[in-house]
Amino acid sequence: MIIPLAHRADQTQEYYFSVKLAEVRRLQAAGHDVINLGIGNPDLMPSPNTIDALIKSVQQPTAHGYQPYKGTPALRQAIAAFYNHTYGVPLDPDTEILPLIGSKEGITHISLTFLNDGDGVLVPELGYPAYRAVSAMVGASVREYPLMENNGWQPDWDVLEDIIANTDPRHPVKIMWMNYPHMPTGAPATRALFERAVRFANDYKLLLCHDNPYSLILNKKPPISLLSVDGAREVAIELNSLSKSHNMAGWRIGWMAGEKPYVDSVLAIKSNVDSGQFKPLMDAATEALTNSDDWHRERNAVYQGRLDAIHALLDALGCTYSTDQEGLFIWAKLPDSVPSAEALVDDLLLTKHVFIAPGFIFGPKGNRYVRVSLCLPRERIEEATARLKMPQ
Ligand SMILES: Cc1ncc(COP(=O)(O)O)c(C=O)c1O
Repeated sequence: MIIPLAHRADQTQEYYFSVKLAEVRRLQAAGHDVINLGIGNPDLMPSPNTIDALIKSVQQPTAHGYQPYKGTPALRQAIAAFYNHTYGVPLDPDTEILPLIGSKEGITHISLTFLNDGDGVLVPELGYPAYRAVSAMVGASVREYPLMENNGWQPDWDVLEDIIANTDPRHPVKIMWMNYPHMPTGAPATRALFERAVRFANDYKLLLCHDNPYSLILNKKPPISLLSVDGAREVAIELNSLSKSHNMAGWRIGWMAGEKPYVDSVLAIKSNVDSGQFKPLMDAATEALTNSDDWHRERNAVYQGRLDAIHALLDALGCTYSTDQEGLFIWAKLPDSVPSAEALVDDLLLTKHVFIAPGFIFGPKGNRYVRVSLCLPRERIEEATARLKMPQ
């Protein structure tokens, strides 16, 4: 290459799945039937009324132009109604909701909005890779915070306080990323955890960014929003998404919820980068947000059946796991006999044509773990298990 890259491109590596799924496609092109349990890409359909709304909307002559930067008022009202119904959190649809092209986009725009060069960002030592990658991309200083396996993968607040105490005041910690139900460990959200986090954010005047895409997937208790906690609104914003909870990952519809000044500030950046979303997507999302509690229960019943099959697959690998996990994945520890997650994952892909995610892509602490997704029919998971049991 003749033209030198910007430092941020030099430092940023292509997303693991972007590289690995190309390898999966090469194997498929060579005629191999790869069972992909790596990525959280729901295979189930959105609700029928969602699809109908899309078709109806796309036929309207008014559907094809630029849309409001803040999304349609109907979408924002539907999000507000969903938040009220699901979490008991009232939001002003005009001022406290910003539709996003998936919550991944929000991570970038929030980071661009709040972080100066060198500012501290707290990211969980195991977590969605974009928190770390985007923080580094905008020149912030990434501070990993530990999660305690023996305490439900919750943050170690003493260590967090030490990190703050040892921070150069010229570059304060500005943002803490958090995500419960937690990906990849499946640790559930609890009100006590959220209250502790809000206290921490208030004590140290940092923005608590909670990423909440899994609250409706295999949740054992009613779902919680961080914004339902007293004192959260001053210091917290929440990302949410239709990707997992409504089987709409490819539609790229999410949103940020928070107080008006936070929403306005992110919008100021975002409106210079993209120009809103396609109206039929927003109309269909508006409809999807009215899916009944029964619809969500039926989806979870399908996942529950798959979960049993995944436990059998993990047993065949000799892995150990908690049965209390929530969300779209199962996180499991390797047996001592396996040298590393990378070795196991590469071996399974090449010899059995079964792909699962190695834990290290969520942080170095994940090197002795794997993550298996619930996004394939039960029969395919059982077939994967049968392949594992077959002699080489
Ligand atoms: C924790 C977490 N946050 C955000 C996302 C991205 O969601 P979206 O599809 O809304 O961009 C994912 C996707 O896997 C995720 O696991």
